[in-house]
Amino acid sequence: MTKAKFRQPATKPYTTRLDRFISQNSDCSMADTRLLLAQRRIRLDGVVADSVQQAVTKFTRVELDGVCLQSEEPVYLAFNKPAGVVSATKDSKHPTVLDLVQHPRKDELHIAGRLDFNTTGLVLLTNDGAWSSRISSPRTKLPKIYEVSVSEPLNREYVDAFQAGIYFACEGITTLPARLEILSPYRARLSLVEGKYHQVKRMFGSFRNKVLSLHRVSVGAVSLDGLEPRATRPVSASELAEMSQQVFGTRYREVCP
Ligand code: URA
Repeated sequence: MTKAKFRQPATKPYTTRLDRFISQNSDCSMADTRLLLAQRRIRLDGVVADSVQQAVTKFTRVELDGVCLQSEEPVYLAFNKPAGVVSATKDSKHPTVLDLVQHPRKDELHIAGRLDFNTTGLVLLTNDGAWSSRISSPRTKLPKIYEVSVSEPLNREYVDAFQAGIYFACEGITTLPARLEILSPYRARLSLVEGKYHQVKRMFGSFRNKVLSLHRVSVGAVSLDGLEPRATRPVSASELAEMSQQVFGTRYREVCP
């Protein structure tokens, strides 16, 4: 069987200093950049640049004397994954998230945080490797909220155990504190700040309780918010701004050493 294919984001986000970018993309040298700045001849995303150390990413629009040296639009999408779909680019047996996503630039996109085959709900897609790396990084501790139904009744013990952390013997690790809200004897909402392999199923599995359905409702500032199964929508400007705060601190006025 051919294995599912995952489109990997660039592991090292493309970010460079303004003076290096100018020397690589124009006839001017790194040293010339100071003069260009003093003469207010460079604009980054429409704003006059003022430091050679300003960060230029793949998606920064850079203009020198009004001539555009680079402009590439990032794409950020929210998709409501149905069950029976692989979180991958290609799969020989089953439909993939990328097969179902409707977008003119979908060939550029990769998934930021996969869901299991039968898990439903929010999947984020992007062509911005820096953004997806931060979202998926365990260091970011971005909250992900799931609704889960299980085969055995829930009780306070689960809440306390998930808060304290569950030990996964295979990896020899303890999960980070997770918030479990019991909605009914067999249903709960779970907020996690990490994404270990089959994490939710294994956490309930430690109580010999089988997960019957698992649905992700939000990742950081982005929620499904009534998005129909199989539907795609752009992540809104306000969700993006809040997410940037959560994953980068602030994205603007970044400087490079
Ligand atoms: N935890 C799981 O067990 N499965 C998922 O798809 C996501 C989190």
